[in-house]
Parts: sequence; structure tokens; C-alpha cells
Amino acid sequence: MTFLPTPPHITHGGQHFEQNLIDASANINPLGAPDWLHHCITSHLKNIAHYPDAYCSQLLTALANYHAIPENTIAVGNGSSEILSWLPIVFEARPWLIPIPCYGEYRRAPAVLKRQVIEITPKENGIDWEQLETALHKYPQAVVPLGHPNNPTGSLLDTERVYTLARSFPKAHFIIDEAFAEFVEQYSSFIPVLQNENSIDNIFILKSATKIAAIPGLRLGWILGHPDTIFRIRQLLPPWSVNTLAQAVGIQLVSDTDDFFARSRNNCTFLRQQLVTQLKTLPHITLTEGAANWVLIHISHGGPPLSQILTHCYANGVALRPCEDFTGLSARSLRIAVRTAAENDHIISTLKQALLPDGQP
Ligand SMILES: Cc1ncc(COP(=O)(O)O)c(C=O)c1O
Repeated sequence: MTFLPTPPHITHGGQHFEQNLIDASANINPLGAPDWLHHCITSHLKNIAHYPDAYCSQLLTALANYHAIPENTIAVGNGSSEILSWLPIVFEARPWLIPIPCYGEYRRAPAVLKRQVIEITPKENGIDWEQLETALHKYPQAVVPLGHPNNPTGSLLDTERVYTLARSFPKAHFIIDEAFAEFVEQYSSFIPVLQNENSIDNIFILKSATKIAAIPGLRLGWILGHPDTIFRIRQLLPPWSVNTLAQAVGIQLVSDTDDFFARSRNNCTFLRQQLVTQLKTLPHITLTEGAANWVLIHISHGGPPLSQILTHCYANGVALRPCEDFTGLSARSLRIAVRTAAENDHIISTLKQALLPDGQP
């Protein structure tokens, strides 16, 4: 008898289905899904009796219009993490240079395929660019995933710096992860690099509908970049990887005329500032203030054990994201997603109780 391998252990926020639980462990839009989502899904339900469009033709057209780039520079997948999983195959045996701390899939995807993974340790809480450049001299064909903003630090990239690096190392591949881009005010996307004639061929951009449209259970992501690599990704992706409902939602999302993105961004920025102000009043905490829709906090050694804090919060209806699996981060770090104003108030009061001696109210 053959046994199937046990699934890999994936630590991720957002697996909290309990009612009345405030899930601040996954960074999902606190505004929730767009108003039209329910109608869009129910009106396309009849179509699930048929196979989805394997080429995602209408979605590709909508995305190409939205980003103002040609369709052959876009590949769509079942979430951006599915696309990420194919990249170590697309980029064959190349090593991966990974500035840490970062989203766990940047390491897991190449590691499961036995690609060499070299960590770039942080400097003053940011990327150590000199170390990265030195490593690129040694591995000029490396793949370099970079979060923009980076999960879990929330920090943004300096676009010019990345362009210079990409031009200096034309055989390397830079994967810019813009999964949370829509939450950031005055965001500098890397997409313009694909829109002009002097485009940089070794920059790829990952996008996700998951966070901004609050649809982690539906799955939709895409990658933008040079047509040759995009063609290879499309060849590798399994047929019908993007289901009918996700395609319909994707089309409507990027054709939205209701300013859903702008409303979400404004709302989130305001709520994050409120959350940061409240967090600063709590004992035993230091903050890494990023630009994203979450806040990273560190509990000082004078504070209670992390497990005690998490248990208290969970028992009081709040799920937070412990960060011990993020290499390069203090094991006493917690990531807190920005939620609605009322939910944030509850998170703060619960966390306060957990941090005070003997759980004083
Ligand atoms: C930085 C980052 N990129 C990409 C993803 C994957 O998003 P999805 O596969 O839902 O599109 C995540 C999920 O948590 C993430 O944190």
C-alpha cells in the first residue's frame, strides 16, 4: 500500500471560522467585499455546470485594460501563491536570494523543489542592499522575491533602487509582490516599468485579489512580466486553475466604477493610524510601523509570555498572528490586521488586559 505524503505544515493566519471571532490574523480588507460581490457570484452560479474558460480570455482583457499593458504580459492563477509555486520550475535551477523576514512562500516554493535558498539578513529593520548586491555578484542569475509592501514588516521598496539593481544584474529575476498594494496611500507600483518601451525584462509583478476584495476563499491572483516567461507560466498552470466565479469577480473588480479601491485605501489608512495610536498606549510593546493594512508589534521581555497573550486574546474573541515562523524576526512579535473601528477597540482592550499584570481590566 502506498501512502500519500502528509501535507506540509503551513502556518498562516485566517483559518478562524468561529462566529464572533475578530480575525486579525489575516490581513483582509476591513470594509469587506465589494457590494456587488454577492450578486456577481449568484448570477454566475448557473455556469459552474460547465468548465471555466481555460484561457481566462475575458479576465485577461479586463486586466490588460486595467493595467494598460498587453495581454501576453499577464498570467492568471488560483491565487498569487499558486503562481509563486510555479516560479522555481519556470526559473529552473537558479538559486533564490531572500531578504528576510518575508512571506513564508518565498522560501517554501523554491525549497520544496530543492532550489538553493540564500537568506539576506536585515539591516536596521530593512533590506541590507549591500549584502543583496554582493550576493548577486556571486549568483548573478538568482531569483529575488521582494514584498512591496513586505509581509510582515509592512515596509515599501525604493523603486529606483530596484530598477538600478535589475539593470545591473540583467540575468537575475526580481519578483515584486504587490499583494497588498491597493491598501497603500501614494503607492509607487512597479507596473509602469511594463508600460513603457524601455521596460526592464527581468522584473515581474505579482498581484492578488484576495486581500483587497476580501475573497481569500475564492482564490485569484496574477503575474505581470515579460511575454516569454509569462507564456511558460501559462503552459505550466493546470487547465481551469481559475474557476468560473473567480474569473467573473476578477472582471468586475478591475472594471469597478464605484471607487472601491480608493474607499478601501482611505478607510484602511485612517483605521491603521487609529490602531497605531491606541497600541502606543499599551505597556511592553514596540511597533514596526509599516505602510500596509496591519501593524507588527514586539512584546518586550518584561511582558507576559507570547502564548499567554495569544490564549487570552483568543479566549476573548480575538485571533492575532504570532510571528515565530518568520525567520529574521523576534519570536516575541505579533502581527495585527487593521479591522473596523469597533473591532480595533475590542482588540486593544483585550490586548491591554493580556499585557497588564494579573489581567487587570
Ligand atoms: C505577501 C503575500 N503575498 C502573496 C500572498 C498570497 O495571496 P493569494 O495566494 O491569496 O493571492 C500572501 C498571503 O498571505 C501574502 O502575504
